[in-house]
Amino acid sequence: MNDLPEVKHVAIIMDGNGRWAKKHDLPRVEGHKKGADTVEDLLNYVYNYGVKYVTLYAFSTENWKRSEEEVNALMALLSFFLQEKKQKMLDNRIRLCVTGRIDGLPKEVASSLRNVMAETAKDYEYTLILALNYGGRAEIVDAAKKFAKECISGKISPDSLDESMFKEYLYLPDVPDPELMIRTSGELRLSNFLLWELSYSEFYVTDTLWPDFSEEEFRKILENFGKRDRRFGGRK
Ligand code: IPE
Ligand code: IPE
Ligand code: MG
Repeated sequence: MNDLPEVKHVAIIMDGNGRWAKKHDLPRVEGHKKGADTVEDLLNYVYNYGVKYVTLYAFSTENWKRSEEEVNALMALLSFFLQEKKQKMLDNRIRLCVTGRIDGLPKEVASSLRNVMAETAKDYEYTLILALNYGGRAEIVDAAKKFAKECISGKISPDSLDESMFKEYLYLPDVPDPELMIRTSGELRLSNFLLWELSYSEFYVTDTLWPDFSEEEFRKILENFGKRDRRFGGRK
């Protein structure tokens, strides 16, 4: 789109569903449902801005601490979303990827994720990454374990490890780091999101609650991103 900067990968912490529900005097689950509608809406416009990868923080390794009722509702919503959106993703050439510990999700959820991932990987132009049962520290620990096992088996030497090699052990090594990370609902923290990948990303925090997030705001965020001076530690 004209005059807007190119952003290949946008990562979003979709926060504020609970506060949205509270504000409207509704149960928390209703906030999550409205949040899922916002995801659908986002998928209708985000790729028109030249974005190729979108990572959405949907369930953290810490979110298991919530009530059983809320966790079950989130898992049910996810299953419904997958069932509903599979065809749309195929039609729009969007591939689904998951970052996180898929095996720790309920069996039916994990198997429908695997099914949609396999189907949509056949032909695609865009990528939707859902961060599910995801923790930035867990990802780094899992990568370290994989690397250690290869060292023990003699496949690789510990001294050969550098940053680019370490990236190969993360969940999605082929995905470029996000240039931009958006968090809705105003909290100024990472909440264990993409600790490695966000090292040099630009952050944008908006007070808008996720269910109220719109294309108009997304466009404004891109405009704001275009004015940032990304220095990566250097000086001209
Ligand atoms: C984000 O909304 C969705 C998930 C974490 C699954 P929250 O449920 O965290 O909403 P708030 O923070 O309570 O408003
Ligand atoms: C981060 O939001 C996780 C997701 C959006 C899935 P939380 O609501 O869980 O984060 P905290 O508890 O405010 O740090
Ligand atoms: Mg929250």
